[in-house]
Amino acid sequence: MTLRSVLVGTGSALPKRKVTNAQLAETVDTSDEWIVARTGIRSRYIAGEGETTSTLATEAARQALAAAGLVPADIGLIVLATATPDQTFPATATQVQHNLGCNGGVAFDVAAVCSGFLYAIGIADSLLRTGMSKRALVIGAETFSRILDWEDRTTCVLFGDGAGAIVLEAREVDEDGPGVLATRLHADGAHNGLLYVDGGPSSTGTVGHVRMKGPEVFRHAVVNLAEVLREVLADQGLTSADIDWVVPHQANQRILDATARKLGLAPEKVIVTVDRHANTSAASVPLALDTAVRDGRIKAGDLVVLEAMGGGFTWGASLIRV
Ligand code: UT7
Repeated sequence: MTLRSVLVGTGSALPKRKVTNAQLAETVDTSDEWIVARTGIRSRYIAGEGETTSTLATEAARQALAAAGLVPADIGLIVLATATPDQTFPATATQVQHNLGCNGGVAFDVAAVCSGFLYAIGIADSLLRTGMSKRALVIGAETFSRILDWEDRTTCVLFGDGAGAIVLEAREVDEDGPGVLATRLHADGAHNGLLYVDGGPSSTGTVGHVRMKGPEVFRHAVVNLAEVLREVLADQGLTSADIDWVVPHQANQRILDATARKLGLAPEKVIVTVDRHANTSAASVPLALDTAVRDGRIKAGDLVVLEAMGGGFTWGASLIRV
């Protein structure tokens, strides 16, 4: 028997307002053709009044708890990945904890931008296996629309808002049983200037806007993602042929295709939501995971690999038996 963090529930939440490419093209110098051809994105959800990172995260968390058959009091640890917290501080995780009504446990945010959910899984899994807590809510939640420069067509068409959550439970399982099997995380600050926000409390005292050198990020993404996927599989003596599903960060359909090709993965094993959600940063992996669990594709016993790459650069992958 071995102590593992077992996935026992998933949930997600989207803002009410859906915005299509055609709607965006009414105010931004762009077109549905360009956005679809270059990214695969057809629509995104944009937060409105009263919708924030914490409200979306709370809704996703409630769904994940319901799916797991648990109540908030069962949760002792909340790790929330976001680059768009409600406030500079306190951590958005503490607001979610309060909204759920499970005060008193551990709650904090993780900042690793689009890779944040992978970092959050790595941290939560490590803490659960120390015995610090029995169950964790791991959340990725963003309102990127609030830090976009709506006059910069090279970035504003790419992102959307949303949240996804999972519940992990520490359990003694058989060697071939369920749980997080391995997580590999990386960061390389040398590439800070390729994807960043041009503001912050300590540098400018402003919130700032997303800036990205897209084509350069694209090239790094394909190389880094293929590499970290190979690493996490090698950790368990597996190859891409053993994988049932890949749940990738949803930045660009062309990145999903190129990474799958590099690894020799069948495209039908790749969960795709970028067409509907666009890039929701830390929320994209748990949103895609919840989508595929709820539509019945991902089932108990499946071997699933999650992966993401984002600003920093940061990147990572996690191998989970459901
Ligand atoms: O989540 C974190 C990780 N992020 C990513 O992984 C994003 C990675 N990068 C990408 O997905 C792609 O590089 C983009 C989608 C951002 C851009 O696609 P691209 O094929 O690399 O296009 P490009 O930046 O080379 O731009 C091609 C042309 C340019 O025009 P010129 O200079 O060739 O005349 C751009 O000005 O497309 C133009 N363009 C647009 N045209 C219409 C850029 N944005 C738009 C737009 N609508 N929204």
